[in-house]
Amino acid sequence: MRPLFKRGVSFAHQMVTDHCKVRVFGPFSGFTVIGSLFAFLVAITCACLFVLPIFEPAIYTSEIPKPSGSNLMRTCNVFEGSWIPEESYPLYNASQCPFAERGFNCLANGRRDRGYTKWRWKPRHCDIPQFDVSAILEYLRGKRVVFVGDSLSRTQWESFICMLMTGVEDKRSVYEIYGNQITKQVRFLSVGFNSYNLKVDFYRSVFLAQPGPVPKHAPKRVKLTIRLDKLDDISKEWIDSDFLIFNSGHWWTPTKLFEMGCYFQLGGSLKLGMPIASAFKTALNTWASWVESNVNPNRTSVFFRTFESSHWSGRNRNSCKVTRRPSSKTHGRDKSSISDTIMKVAKQMAFPVRVLHVTPMGAFRSDAHVGPWSNNPSVPDCSHWCLPGVPDMWNEILFSYMLSKNGEIFQ
Ligand SMILES: *[C@@H]1O[C@H](CO)[C@@H](O)[C@H](O)[C@H]1NC(C)=O
Ligand SMILES: *[C@@H]1O[C@H](CO)[C@@H](O)[C@H](O)[C@H]1NC(C)=O
Repeated sequence: MRPLFKRGVSFAHQMVTDHCKVRVFGPFSGFTVIGSLFAFLVAITCACLFVLPIFEPAIYTSEIPKPSGSNLMRTCNVFEGSWIPEESYPLYNASQCPFAERGFNCLANGRRDRGYTKWRWKPRHCDIPQFDVSAILEYLRGKRVVFVGDSLSRTQWESFICMLMTGVEDKRSVYEIYGNQITKQVRFLSVGFNSYNLKVDFYRSVFLAQPGPVPKHAPKRVKLTIRLDKLDDISKEWIDSDFLIFNSGHWWTPTKLFEMGCYFQLGGSLKLGMPIASAFKTALNTWASWVESNVNPNRTSVFFRTFESSHWSGRNRNSCKVTRRPSSKTHGRDKSSISDTIMKVAKQMAFPVRVLHVTPMGAFRSDAHVGPWSNNPSVPDCSHWCLPGVPDMWNEILFSYMLSKNGEIFQ
């Protein structure tokens, strides 16, 4: 804290001298008492403007955060913090949860070390309330929770169900309503908690935007298009819900798009040269207008999870070395242009969307990926996470938002 604080002060000082000097101390010739008073006032205002936001963190660290409901909790950035050991974790055994898919159950797939299951995320300025399964099950009675996105969304959905199932006595009362199996391609899964009249659904929509057929006269390499101005046509099934949790990001890569013959389309025209970053932004804006014109903010809370850090390494970013312990440095993985776009778009919306900014916390967890312990050990996986593991923490944060009045617990 100290070096940062010092840097802050010197930065502020520099700002004051650079910006204010010209205006305040410039007209020295007409020096009068009133003039100097005025100059003093401007200098103070200027100094305050620049210094105040920098002092803020220092104020927070000097006070011990109080339990929920206090002002300090409300200003806590829950996504800024560190992982600390937690003996009581994990929260469930994936082998006893029929909704944790085999590919994510690392222990069942031969992983020997278990240390990676014993870390808890600790926000710097507050605490995430302890997971209280009966409270959350009671709260979710009669509700519908919908996860939408790619396989990382499916992982969170699986973790969500496994966590809740630890509080359900009769495990057979929790089942996939249509008898579907969890697979990579399945577009829709709905798990009912019978005794709670609760439904937890997953919709696979990796781009959120609508895939479309190839327009006439398109070059041969075009096999599929993503219609950036249209939301996925299953989106109408998401509206009638109490919680909507979105993600998208891992599919917006040249390998998953252009190399597969997938190109962008806007209206009737193909956008062959459109950069992925601007396509993602366009799709997110389409998503934002869809939310604003279809979702009722009085009924539905909307969340968007940011990019889930992956830990590929090597020159071609194709080797995957899972470590035994979380890394102490993020090596830049705490930043993501995908996440930046998500936060920017969400901020501009009139609809109150909560961004689950999981990028920084995941960046430390080089120990928590599936690695070779998937159902296909010949293809190591440094994108997905073992269950139990990191996605449980996303859900603990989600549960905290749900249980706190108006989600006021964190900023
Ligand atoms: C999880 O459950 C399975 C099957 O009941 C059991 O064999 C295994 O030891 C358990 N794992 C842990 C980490 O407790
Ligand atoms: C939500 O509630 C507010 C206040 O009760 C009301 O003014 C508004 O019309 C409602 N919005 C919708 C979409 O129902």
